[in-house]
Amino acid sequence: MAEAKLIDGKVFAAGLRARVGAGVAELHAVTGIKPGLATVLVGDDAASQVYVKSKGRVAAELGMASFDHRLPASTTELELLQLITRLNKDPAVHGILVQLPLPKHIVTPDILLAVDPDKDVDGFHPMNVGRLGSIASGAPLDFPVPCTPLGCSMLLADALGALSGRHAVVLGRSTLVGRPVAQLLLKADCTVTIAHSRTRDLPALCRTADILVVAIGKPAFVRGDWIKPGAAVIDVGINRISAGDSKTRLVGDVAFDEARAVAGHLTPVPGGVGPMTVACLMYNTLQEARRRAGLPFTAV
Ligand code: GUN
Repeated sequence: MAEAKLIDGKVFAAGLRARVGAGVAELHAVTGIKPGLATVLVGDDAASQVYVKSKGRVAAELGMASFDHRLPASTTELELLQLITRLNKDPAVHGILVQLPLPKHIVTPDILLAVDPDKDVDGFHPMNVGRLGSIASGAPLDFPVPCTPLGCSMLLADALGALSGRHAVVLGRSTLVGRPVAQLLLKADCTVTIAHSRTRDLPALCRTADILVVAIGKPAFVRGDWIKPGAAVIDVGINRISAGDSKTRLVGDVAFDEARAVAGHLTPVPGGVGPMTVACLMYNTLQEARRRAGLPFTAV
């Protein structure tokens, strides 16, 4: 059997960013509105700092305004809520992203609930979670959808075309990735199974998957003999492991070399799903700016 075709998220994300950039320019030309993205980072988690910096940089590259709010780890929940209230009211801000995880003394659901659902470019507000959970298969996605799941579904649609009738197994049930990915695949008329740490005989279940999405945060957890020959495998994991000599490297949740010998399509780590997350955040921000201008959602 031939090696899996690698799904190049870097290339697809670059194309998406270019289309979003063109959408930003068009919106500005027609309405004078410049989409604005506010990022909020509480504390000094190193990985979060890297993510937030790249979000601000890409927003600026695409012609958006970017507003960077950094608060100390000692920030109270009330202070954070006051900032969110200000951003909700600010007409220059069309998207608000509160970087997760938040410090332990802050109740994350309280914060997600406080963001205006029409500025919720992460798609984490309960109203948007509910919209995704109740959407009909033919209905448009005219509300913000979580960025990483949206990126996964775009890569799958690009690689496979119609997803209808395929059996998708989603490994992981998190609210950030597993559940929304499953909802998007259900909307695309897949038969969806959500598996997790308590699922019995995971390898046998995975072998029934035409599409396998893995988001469990364990390096090289899914082995080659778990994969049905020819299946499409989307690896959402980003794990930093030791590579000897005090060096580290990034690996996914799937044993890459083993999977490559069996799968039909496979996303690499890095360079697969990762670049899609920021591109989809920009896509969501453009859509919310269009909504504010009274324009419909647009496929880009
Ligand atoms: N932390 C890890 N992934 C994400 C994400 O997609 N959005 C936010 N806000 N925080 C994250």
